[in-house]
Amino acid sequence: MSSFKKDVVSLLSETTEVPPEEIASRLEYPPDESLGDLAFPCHLLSKRLKKSPQAIASGLAEILLPKASIDRIAANGPYLNFFADPAILATEVVSSIISQAEDFGSSDEGRGKTIVIDFSSPNIAKPFGVGHLRTTVLGNALYHIFSKLGYKLVRVNHLGDWGTQFGKLITAFKLWGDEAHLEKDPIGELFDLYVEFHRRAETDPDLEEKAREEFKKLEGGEQETSELWRRFRDLSLQDFDRIYRLLGIEFDSYAGESFYNPYIDKTIEALKSAGLTRVSEDALIVDLEKYGMPPCLLKKRDEATLYATRDIAAAIYRYETYEFHKNLYVVGSAQRLHFQQVFKVLELMGYPWSKDCHHIELGWIKFEKGAMSTRKGNIVFLEDVLSKSVELVTSIIEEKNPTLENRDRVARQVGVGAVVFWDLSARRNKDINFSWEEALSFEGQTGPYLQYTHARLASVMRRYGEPLPAHPDLSLLSGAQEQKVIKLLSRFPEHLQRAAFDYEPYHLVSYLLELASVFNSFYQSQRILCEDSNLRSARVSLAEATRTVLKEGLRLLGMESPESM
Ligand code: ARG
Repeated sequence: MSSFKKDVVSLLSETTEVPPEEIASRLEYPPDESLGDLAFPCHLLSKRLKKSPQAIASGLAEILLPKASIDRIAANGPYLNFFADPAILATEVVSSIISQAEDFGSSDEGRGKTIVIDFSSPNIAKPFGVGHLRTTVLGNALYHIFSKLGYKLVRVNHLGDWGTQFGKLITAFKLWGDEAHLEKDPIGELFDLYVEFHRRAETDPDLEEKAREEFKKLEGGEQETSELWRRFRDLSLQDFDRIYRLLGIEFDSYAGESFYNPYIDKTIEALKSAGLTRVSEDALIVDLEKYGMPPCLLKKRDEATLYATRDIAAAIYRYETYEFHKNLYVVGSAQRLHFQQVFKVLELMGYPWSKDCHHIELGWIKFEKGAMSTRKGNIVFLEDVLSKSVELVTSIIEEKNPTLENRDRVARQVGVGAVVFWDLSARRNKDINFSWEEALSFEGQTGPYLQYTHARLASVMRRYGEPLPAHPDLSLLSGAQEQKVIKLLSRFPEHLQRAAFDYEPYHLVSYLLELASVFNSFYQSQRILCEDSNLRSARVSLAEATRTVLKEGLRLLGMESPESM
């Protein structure tokens, strides 16, 4: 908490006898800064004091004396507004960012707590499509944000590497597989086979039966089938790894669906002995009618296990292994019911931690002709999007800045950053429309714009060319635009906390855009490297503080910040 906020809280709390925590949680930011820097809504006191909020506000404005970092106090309708002392604010905010550097905004609220975060989790033997971009990028951003708040994170890639679809793939490969094509373009071959299977199965129902048999063999551990499956999995992982490296994303565990095979029997036994299962139409289910949900399917007629069974086993495994404080699933909203069922079953099994399991829902990425489907073969490969973006940036650099050092590296950082930022620039549960133009746009509210602002600041620092001033007089930063930048900088920690609380990196995205825009208007109208050496020292410090927060914010979103571009 800034000393300004602390001073406001203690002043109000002393006078009104409302506990400081309550005051702190009720303070608001006025919509317009000419109204003040913090506002207290007085209706909170009207019951107790039996007066109108307006009367309370003006009464308090008369008796309260500004002190310490509080410059002025004024009533405005039902609100009591506080103005911060500009010199104290500037000194405190800028010097603490400079001294804490990238640790500014860190906290230890998560100390000793583990969060398991299940994200990305693509399905093997399929191309990594744009459809998996959101879970991948958003999960990674949440990983960074919670880590910064002191939590220990376990990143799990719950690969879709088990299920009846592998029976289909194995059937298709045995019938029509092309060994040479598999060697050359593994995912292409597997994807073609998958599409082929569905095309032919429409007219040849025997295929489905064959696929069921193959999956049964796989679940029984039959050697030839298992070897094929293992090969498909290894080839897919190599493919995914390229994309993760490009995005700079890592995982702590690749325990996918197949990993839980050895735990399935135990899980089903536990469900049975808790009296939760019954047989319906030859399938083993947990009846959830009482809770307004369709039954949770555990085993099909042919004994094949299902997605939900594996998720129940996985959640139990995660609790036993990590004793998580939270267990998060960053997955599209299409799976809402699935997770509601799984969490309900865990609750019915008597696990108190079932309430700590959360589905972090994502909207769809939509394509012009509706949402995409792998089955019909219309899929946009994420790797294509990323490499097109990098190509585009390369050509822009060649045109505008041909002598740039590390051109390839910068093109990769900016090209990938553009796509990552595009994906994060809508609230997570909103559907977004995929269009090449938008995903690869570098104008306006985009990732490259933020990276460019950062590079511009880095260049100011290079031109300054000296170590940061040791004792700048930061009270000189009292201009309206400087104060705007400073106030925004001071709110970085709060925005982080909000992003974590709502599982919504978008809060951070819009914060960074605002910071860049406020800073850029300052930069356009005032010289940072000005004549007056005291003012220059103060402004350079402000520029460095802004650069630090921008860079750290981008890092949290999973983006890099080139020094020049
Ligand atoms: N593989 C699934 C898909 O691509 C997502 C898995 C999410 N995680 C989980 N534990 N169910 O749709």
